[in-house]
Amino acid sequence: MISVKENYIDVKEFNLLYDLVGWGHYDEEVSLKALKNTFYSVSVYDDEKIIGYGRIVGDTICFLYIQDIMVIPEYQSKKIGTMIMNKLLDKTKEIKKENPYLKVYVGASKNREKFYERFGFVKRSEVDLGEGMVLKTN
Ligand SMILES: CC(C)(COP(=O)(O)OP(=O)(O)OC[C@H]1O[C@@H](n2cnc3c(N)ncnc32)[C@H](O)[C@@H]1OP(=O)(O)O)[C@@H](O)C(=O)NCCC(=O)NCCS
Repeated sequence: MISVKENYIDVKEFNLLYDLVGWGHYDEEVSLKALKNTFYSVSVYDDEKIIGYGRIVGDTICFLYIQDIMVIPEYQSKKIGTMIMNKLLDKTKEIKKENPYLKVYVGASKNREKFYERFGFVKRSEVDLGEGMVLKTN
């Protein structure tokens, strides 16, 4: 049976998902700090087995970033990713009631933009913002 846990921290599960979607995991201390500093998260299980995850980071009121949407390969294309996104977006709607100026971003991986467009995300240039940048590390 599919079930969801909110704000549940399990570093091993998080790192396992990172591995299974092909990203390669962080050291456990790094993942633990990242998860502890997460504003809101959704972990999805099939019975006891972790199958998906998504989280929101940010200042909890003005800027929120959706990150780390992951569904393990054998469960992809079964609307688990959609369920995760809808739960995260419900949380952003709650915050928007407190602050109508809230901005919600998503860190879309290359070629994943179409998935996020389904939920109303657009390229920043479409709403007259700059392209968006990331600090180059190598
Ligand atoms: C991307 C991902 C989260 C989607 O989750 P999912 O559970 O497989 O997606 P869903 O079943 O909810 O798909 C919903 C719709 O989005 C579409 N979609 C799914 N992945 C897509 C992608 N990578 N690009 C474009 N569209 C995509 C599906 O075709 C589906 O369309 P339909 O309703 O017309 O059939 C999942 O495939 C995944 O974890 N991939 C590896 C990790 C990753 O890349 N995460 C995103 C990082 S930014």
